[in-house]
Amino acid sequence: MEEIISKADDKTPGIKTSSQRAAKPQLVSEISMNEAHRIQIPDKELNRVLGNGLVSGSLILFGGEPGIGKSTLLLQLALAAKKTKVLYVSGEESEQQIKMRAERIGMNNSNCYILTETSLQNIFKQIEELEPNLLIIDSIQTLYTNEIESSPGSVSQIRECAGQLLRYAKESGTPVFLIGHITKDGNIAGPKVLEHMVDTVLQFEGDRNHVYRLLRAAKNRFGSTNELGIYEMQGSGLREVSNPSEILITNRDEPVSGIAIAATLEGMRPMLVEIQALVSSAVYGIPQRSPTGFDLRRLAMLLAVLEKRCGFRLGAKDVFLNIAGGIRVEDPSIDLAVVTAVLSSSEDIPVNQKTAFAAEVGLSGEIRPVNRIDQRISEAEKLGFEQIFISKYNKKGLDIKSCKIEIKMVGKMEEVFRLLFG
Ligand code: TYD
Ligand code: MG
Repeated sequence: MEEIISKADDKTPGIKTSSQRAAKPQLVSEISMNEAHRIQIPDKELNRVLGNGLVSGSLILFGGEPGIGKSTLLLQLALAAKKTKVLYVSGEESEQQIKMRAERIGMNNSNCYILTETSLQNIFKQIEELEPNLLIIDSIQTLYTNEIESSPGSVSQIRECAGQLLRYAKESGTPVFLIGHITKDGNIAGPKVLEHMVDTVLQFEGDRNHVYRLLRAAKNRFGSTNELGIYEMQGSGLREVSNPSEILITNRDEPVSGIAIAATLEGMRPMLVEIQALVSSAVYGIPQRSPTGFDLRRLAMLLAVLEKRCGFRLGAKDVFLNIAGGIRVEDPSIDLAVVTAVLSSSEDIPVNQKTAFAAEVGLSGEIRPVNRIDQRISEAEKLGFEQIFISKYNKKGLDIKSCKIEIKMVGKMEEVFRLLFG
């Protein structure tokens, strides 16, 4: 563990420390709402994920793996926010590199200033002169303050620099974005240590080899964390994807049997995955059960339920199951999609491509409720699905009227079969 050694005594140039500004108690009714004033930003996806706009004085950690497009997205924001005076501080790239990126994005903002600097004291000096309305720091790992003796990127430097920027944000009312590199394993030492002190944590995710990028809020003091922003990385920057239903799931011209879409949660984040099943007559003696990305014993159990409770003869069939995209899912809420995909293949009847499933299947063939159902429903709705099958036991507390997606509540496997395959 590193030690924090403080050299200066509260003499940070450029910012007022909290001791200089004594706070007074205020009546709740007299506190003006201006403090939560929101700046609408021209990026619809980002705007929505933030919770409808950028709250003044908020500190936002913008995390993601290196190369995913963090600098691109925030430079794009800086260039698109035409009426806002933006200071984009880069400790990673030269002015020329940033200019090249701006050219590539093809936008210009006469109110956007670029500063290549890593010393926080110097940054504050420039801020004092420029008085920006929006500050972007790329990245928090490159900053250092003289008050701490450890090297940039160390936990104590990151924490101290972010602390000073937090104070600046709160006292000036300027929103501040902190870009932070996060490695795939969710690296704890690094920007993760900031998660508790910032107002909002945004995550920019995606496979670098693919063009789609997902933006989510992992924490948001000013909005929900259920929103999802989707972008496509193009030659000229990131494009907002307004109709994302086509992307995470294979797009087919013709519906194919053996496919069902599950609305699952991966940790905190909702995700729609495609389940593919193939049921065929076993050629050699013992029928095979071969799942990829799904538990073999659970598959065997679901097949036994279909056989015993619903009367499907699968005992003499080979069953192959695959979760598209090479991912592994532990969430039992994909049971219903698994069973549906198997039935669809077995009957050779395709399932409507705009239908999703989110429920567990019990030993008696009952459709069981799953947690955070509203989050799954809103993700399916966001991704353009028109119908979702859930357990009728999930009905409690669910606000169906506010959903555009049709919600089919089912209690038994037989009902699902009847509704889908008649
Ligand atoms: P970058 O924003 O530098 O990522 P980060 O700041 O998260 O490390 O983006 C890196 C990648 O994006 C890089 O491989 C080039 C690609 N890119 C495009 O495909 N199109 C573009 O218009 C831009 C600016 C970048
Ligand atoms: Mg970058």
